[in-house]
Amino acid sequence: MVKVLFVCLGNICRSPSAEGVFRDMVEQKGLSAQITTDSAGTGDWHVGNPPDPRAQKAALDRGVDISDLRARQIRAKDFIEFDYVLAMDRSNYAKLQQICPPGYEDRLYMFLSFYPDSPEEEVPDPYFGGADGFDYVLDLIEKASEGLVQDIKTGYLGM
Ligand code: 4NP
Repeated sequence: MVKVLFVCLGNICRSPSAEGVFRDMVEQKGLSAQITTDSAGTGDWHVGNPPDPRAQKAALDRGVDISDLRARQIRAKDFIEFDYVLAMDRSNYAKLQQICPPGYEDRLYMFLSFYPDSPEEEVPDPYFGGADGFDYVLDLIEKASEGLVQDIKTGYLGM
């Protein structure tokens, strides 16, 4: 089983959106028995909460239901459990570097590194902006998710 963890600041906008899009993609490709997904925030303000209503709507407009997801905070032991720890932005990445146990650094990635021609290095935080920010976030997430599935297939599943 390959375990994938998406991480942002609040775990109510970007990382649950990524988890939902990637989870659907894995299902559609028939890989649900081989790949599991989760998401977490570096911050604890929204622990236990569902995704932001704007994130839920933007995802549902693309056929992705993320209403079941609940926010939690990242823990050091997530690096031991998960094969991929995917940071949405540089600030998340720096925080994750601080809590990563020694020897597990190779599990940490910038999520958009799986979207080689990405116009952005970071998934921009849509929390303080309008609805179009959430749509743009999903555009980036869809592309990076395709690259991530491919990386898992070649790197872990021998496909
Ligand atoms: P996220 O967005 O990191 O994509 O979930 C945010 C959600 C909440 C806050 C910041 C960013 N906040 O400051 O509460």
